[in-house]
Amino acid sequence: MTGKMIEFVINGKPAALEPVEGEMLADLLRNRLNLTGVKVGCNEDECGACTVVIDGEAVLSCNYPALKANGKTITTVEGLAGAVSGRKLHPLQEAFIQYGAVQCGFCIPGQLMTAYALLQHNPDPSEEDIRSALKDTLCRCGGYTLIIGAIQAAAKSLRTGEPVEAPQVPLSTRARNVIGRIVPRPDALDKVTGRAIYTDDVKFEGMLEARVKRAMLPSAIVKRLDVSRARALPGVAAVLTAEDIPGEHNHGAVIPDWPSLVGVRERIRYVGDAVAIVAAETRAIASDALELIEVEYEPLPVVSSAVQARREDAPRIHPDGNLLKHIQVRKGDVETGFAAADVVLEETFNTPQMDHVFLEPECSVARPLPDGSLEIYVGSQIPYADQTEVALALGWPKERVRVIGQTVGGAFGGKEDIAGQIHAALLANATGRPVKLLYDRHESLISHPKRHATQIRVRLGAKKDGRLTAVETELYGDTGAYASLGEYVMTRATTHSSGPYEAPNVRADCYAMYTNNPPAGAFRGFGVTQSAFAIESAMDMLAGKLNIDPVALRRMNALHAGSITNTGQVLRDSVGLVECIDKVSAEMKRQGGNDPFSAKTDPLRPYSRRAWGFAVAFKNTGLGGGALDKSSAEAELRQDGIIEVRTSAAELGQGLPTVLGLIAAEELDQPPEGIHVLLSDTRLTPDGGPTTASRQTFVSGNAVRLAAKALRELIVSELCEDYDVDPATIRFSKGCVIVNGDCLTLQRAAEILNQRRQSTVASYEYIAPETKPLGEPGDIHVAFIYAAQAAEVEVDTRTGEVQVLRVITANDVGTVINPLGLKGQLEGGVIMGIGHALTENFIVNEGQVVTDRLASYRMPSIHFTPEITSFVVEDPTREGPYGAKGVGEIVLIPTIPAITNAVCNAVRVRAHSIPLDQEMILKELEKRGEAAV
Ligand code: FES
Repeated sequence: MTGKMIEFVINGKPAALEPVEGEMLADLLRNRLNLTGVKVGCNEDECGACTVVIDGEAVLSCNYPALKANGKTITTVEGLAGAVSGRKLHPLQEAFIQYGAVQCGFCIPGQLMTAYALLQHNPDPSEEDIRSALKDTLCRCGGYTLIIGAIQAAAKSLRTGEPVEAPQVPLSTRARNVIGRIVPRPDALDKVTGRAIYTDDVKFEGMLEARVKRAMLPSAIVKRLDVSRARALPGVAAVLTAEDIPGEHNHGAVIPDWPSLVGVRERIRYVGDAVAIVAAETRAIASDALELIEVEYEPLPVVSSAVQARREDAPRIHPDGNLLKHIQVRKGDVETGFAAADVVLEETFNTPQMDHVFLEPECSVARPLPDGSLEIYVGSQIPYADQTEVALALGWPKERVRVIGQTVGGAFGGKEDIAGQIHAALLANATGRPVKLLYDRHESLISHPKRHATQIRVRLGAKKDGRLTAVETELYGDTGAYASLGEYVMTRATTHSSGPYEAPNVRADCYAMYTNNPPAGAFRGFGVTQSAFAIESAMDMLAGKLNIDPVALRRMNALHAGSITNTGQVLRDSVGLVECIDKVSAEMKRQGGNDPFSAKTDPLRPYSRRAWGFAVAFKNTGLGGGALDKSSAEAELRQDGIIEVRTSAAELGQGLPTVLGLIAAEELDQPPEGIHVLLSDTRLTPDGGPTTASRQTFVSGNAVRLAAKALRELIVSELCEDYDVDPATIRFSKGCVIVNGDCLTLQRAAEILNQRRQSTVASYEYIAPETKPLGEPGDIHVAFIYAAQAAEVEVDTRTGEVQVLRVITANDVGTVINPLGLKGQLEGGVIMGIGHALTENFIVNEGQVVTDRLASYRMPSIHFTPEITSFVVEDPTREGPYGAKGVGEIVLIPTIPAITNAVCNAVRVRAHSIPLDQEMILKELEKRGEAAV
């Protein structure tokens, strides 16, 4: 403390606080004023989540010294509601809700406050003004187009005093009472007011702060580990090493090969390996203690790529060697197929590791209870798996551990593997006190699993007319130091590697290899992102070689109902690929003329080359491959007449509560506001399985639908006895149960069931249709989602810079349940795909992470937002709830090859790797004398 008070006005009220040396404004607001709507995503001035408005200007509070706030007027997201007299919410908040701009919500306070500052200076901002003002406020859910629309609608509302205009969102062509209609997200209000609780916002009396000592070496043996000086540091409550783990030492999503702490004489396999954990009174003390931990390592050779890992002489990373899995797909006879081909093409493609960059860094809170149990507060993708893993590490029965899911600030697959939950639990158990373990961005980047780096060789054989005769692929997948979900990810990459085409002869071999790089696991697209880039690039090259229109080539080979896939699955229904192709192709011609693939130059910009590119994709929904894919749900008629739907499925920003709420509302013929959805609590919600593989709409959607149906039947059977009427005469309708022609409120119905001592809870365990493991005859997946995309790019021939101008998408999602959520998923997926194609590259050099700051990992900002035209194809699947299949992953898969194909059409430079190397483009142009000056 330095004595002189900091005095300022915060959200209209005066405040005076003692200064704390080195304190940043974000910390003061969050920790001392409990304004937890101020989010911290990076601590690097990069993400913008911490933006507040100071004296009318948007300011990043995470690196703004609190002392500088003296004498200032500060507004945070908590002060926004009520800022316009006569309106409960600020029009920006209303518009963000209405436009579906709120997804995971972690960036939303920063977006709102940046927009608020903009509108103070510019009440009628153009789209360009908004892009410029929000250029440093990142949204990984990618809702930039929705954010732009919302800001313009709010600005208009502020200027005119009229309510915020509703957005134009196409409804489902299969819309029912509530399914397929526009409803606001139930969690949006909390997210725009700063009330949503993410794990770092959780506080308990006496809570300790934890930190992790990481190896920072990719390959070594721990020779000596001494934590005595750290333990002796005042304020340190516990320092634990591998010796202190009471239960299982290893964890793993599939194979338990990942040590929670690496002990003496044990093996370090990547830089993020943990050797000790500390809990202390403050984060600063915990950080100081890390410096006092002494570790001696014996460095070992590093295996830095999947190809190197498979060499005979490669150092062995695990006792059984470096091969996690050799995955094989066989259909027909490829040699015969290639012999019958008029043209054979062979190309090799590479993709790097990529990071999810969910804006909310990982955080876990563990709290011991007096009864000897432990609560874990975490934004988890798989609460029941976390419960099991924590209990195993503690050597406890899992009933002693309760996982309570918090609002998740994005995940995209990156929060499937357990992270700090075990460490926080071990420290809470050792100290008997609540413990919070929050990663900073650097720690998040180096430690959690990535998208697999791949090398994919594609060989295509085709007749002169374009009919495929054979497809052969060979994939190398770098699964990093530990298995994570590597086997499953690379299996999907392999089974999808011949694209959504019906080729008579297919051979695919994949080698999923351990290396000393950070582990690779689940990431939206689950391996198909990589193989789609390879096959769709090769298909365009084949079209060029055959002099066939690339759309026509895809259309003639496209999977359709009745097709047999490369794994031998007969597609019986819901194959809307050709419709997707036709819709995108027609719109591309409407926007880009009859020759969209030929390069054009804007006369006013003679250095520019523009062209369109095209790509298609498919992606399984559900776990498949013989895995038991099930979800349980409960539906309860509460005494207040609200129907509560419960399952442990996780909401990561994708809008699951809306989807499940709409399904229950439809099944019970009730308004959506009469349904409450409770997710992600291992004590209160039954197991919905992992939120992965685009499965929750399908699997948990069915579980909720059938639980709601069971509840309806339960209510009817009780009421028909109570009223002595034929059950067939009882109907549900809009908040009522109609009995004898009278509207009985659900509250009254609950009372009657109560009086009859009848439970008001119905449950259902839904098991998806059986699938077969790869290699066995039968269906490997319950359904597939299909998509086509076209992208128009402009290449600046002076610099090689690529800009995506327009994207057209069509996705066959079966049935649209939640149109507003779907729009967010579609557009966010496109933005993520643009990032993957143009900028994102998680660089690891000899096992050392180079891109270890947010600033060095270039995720797309609002600047990258193209004009997006979306079409939805609704080819329902028999088994999905109301025909729905899910959509979370397919949306970004074709974006990458559509862009790289467009660049090739524009400047004849073919990308064999992503992100597109724009220097390479320039060099090629210079070599050919085509670079502009
Ligand atoms: Fe923007 Fe999720 S809503 S990061």
